[in-house]
Amino acid sequence: MTVFGIVVAAGSGERFGRPKATIELAGRPLWKWAVDSLLSGGCGDVAVVGEVPGGISGGVRRRDSVAAGMAVAPDGATHVLVHDAARPLATAELVGRVIERLAVGDVDAVVPGIPVRDTLKSVSGETVIRTVDRTDLVSVQTPQGFKVGSLRRGHAFDDDDATDDAALVERSGGMVVFVTGEGHNLKVTYPGDLAVMEALLS
Ligand code: CTP
Ligand code: MG
Repeated sequence: MTVFGIVVAAGSGERFGRPKATIELAGRPLWKWAVDSLLSGGCGDVAVVGEVPGGISGGVRRRDSVAAGMAVAPDGATHVLVHDAARPLATAELVGRVIERLAVGDVDAVVPGIPVRDTLKSVSGETVIRTVDRTDLVSVQTPQGFKVGSLRRGHAFDDDDATDDAALVERSGGMVVFVTGEGHNLKVTYPGDLAVMEALLS
């Protein structure tokens, strides 16, 4: 098993107010946190997609940035882990857990997920339509792991609504499973999220 890592660090950071990958958390840029956890968790080689030192150009959609990373995957790579630069706090242990589950060999993709804690409501404007049963719901993170062939088949699907790569694999008929994610593995999405992460680290 040879695992290639892709850190997606492009995108405009619309909700944050500017692109996020080069923002520093505890003196280290977000993209570097993501690279370091992939390397220490078991990826042999890591490519960064985005406007960072040594990075390759990304695309308009997240899936285009992932495809740019796949284009530089070494020939010998059997598996790939895709990780958001915006998730600096994923641990090497989580990376290892995803790789270990992939290594069993029976699935196309592995995603980290944690059970949804809050009560969920379906709404229309300000009106609550109903309460959604959360029993079967997990909230999904990165790094997400794939067999190289399964991710390529997923990417052959034209699906603009997919918010992650596992969704493309699901839609192409692939088997996707989840492993336990990490509560602190938050994504920098809004400006206030950085302060939460600084607090978690201190
Ligand atoms: N990303 C990317 N290429 C894109 C869009 C997103 O590489 N075209 C990456 C981001 O750098 C981030 C991860 O995908 O690490 C998750 O995306 P998100 O948090 O949504 O970042 P942005 O798309 O930049 O932010 P927004 O959706 O608020 O514009
Ligand atoms: Mg986005």
